[in-house]
Amino acid sequence: MKILVTGGAGYIGSHTCVELLNNGFEVVVYDNLSNSKEEALTRVKKITGKDLIFVKGDVLDVKALDKLFNEHKFDCVINFAGLKAVGESVKKPLEYYHNNITGAINLLEVMKKYECYNFIFSSSATVYGDPEVVPVDENSKIGGTTNPYGTTKLFIEQILKDLHYAEPKFNIAILRYFNPIGAHPTGLIGEDPNGIPNNLAPYITQVMIGKREKLTIFGNDYETPDGTCIRDYIHVCDLAYGHVCALRKLLENPGLVIYNLGTGTGSSVFDVLHAFEKAYGKEIPYVIGNRRAGDIAVNFTKVDKALNEINFKAKYDINDMARDQWNWQAKNQNGYEN
Ligand code: NAD
Ligand code: WQD
Repeated sequence: MKILVTGGAGYIGSHTCVELLNNGFEVVVYDNLSNSKEEALTRVKKITGKDLIFVKGDVLDVKALDKLFNEHKFDCVINFAGLKAVGESVKKPLEYYHNNITGAINLLEVMKKYECYNFIFSSSATVYGDPEVVPVDENSKIGGTTNPYGTTKLFIEQILKDLHYAEPKFNIAILRYFNPIGAHPTGLIGEDPNGIPNNLAPYITQVMIGKREKLTIFGNDYETPDGTCIRDYIHVCDLAYGHVCALRKLLENPGLVIYNLGTGTGSSVFDVLHAFEKAYGKEIPYVIGNRRAGDIAVNFTKVDKALNEINFKAKYDINDMARDQWNWQAKNQNGYEN
């Protein structure tokens, strides 16, 4: 069974390629390398001992997509290709809407032409905005996104629902990821952000290797037990395996399905920091700063639906995530540039 993985050289995509190959799927990666390196795929092959096909290309390039589908018969498309920096999306909304939304539409159009009807979409917990009740579940209200990036996810979800209504032949899995962190336990692949990391875990590991002086915790006056924000961090390998579970579900022709992928456990910024300190064996310097605009106090998910319908259950905890992300960072101080 042949799977097209767009954005497959990126952080979540590369880990998902490992899971797909280990579970017997053939993989074709299509990525423009705008936020990734081909080296990640070389390492995916090293981890799995299996081959994959890499095609450098852009989901905005309709001709190249047509050529790709003409050359391969895909059973499913997993679409990771997209821009994901929240702050940048506020400054460059058109680029975000164009890349993420037009890219997704281009893919769906070429799939329709070549009669490939299985699609998995990387959505995000951000579609829940600032939830009224936590933990959220898949029926919780969506909307109220606070930045163009989040809104691209919301709009694409709506496009997928409209498409499925009009063309029920499409099987679509919308996967709403919570906060993926960690790295493959081999330390061969992991997150390799450009410039100053926006996200918590890569920022912490850059402090650990001395690349940054200290962590700034964005506010300790939230209404949470220790005053810092709470999120549902999920190990990227668990998240990657979630795509195999969703793919198996799509092969049963379920129509459109939505799953939250998280662990069901909320961890505060201090919980995360302490997990990294445990992996490090030392204290990690930090200061308390102002709240970050757009941050919400608490978000974590119920896990029942994913467990009952696709048999997905995260197996790693926050200490495993910290250990593996530290292992990756320690072995690859400059990411894939080493
Ligand atoms: P990433 O930036 O590491 O991976 C995205 C990949 O897509 C990169 O390899 C990039 O080069 C590629 N890409 C971007 N635009 C493209 C285009 N026009 N054509 C072809 N390739 C293109 O990001 P990630 O963290 O692996 O995220 C993967 C997906 O999951 C994204 O859609 C992201 O929005 C979504 N997501 C990520 C998180 C997270 O916290 N990392 C959370 C929720 C959802
Ligand atoms: C986690 C916590 C920060 C950095 C973002 C996107 C979301 C999704 C995942 C894609 C928060 C705090 C962070 C720092 C800190 N991405 N923090 N100091 O904001 O939950 O989610 O990534 O879909 O859409 O918004 O993740 O890792 O940025 O922050 O104190 O230097 O860490 O305030 O409480 P977030 P994050």
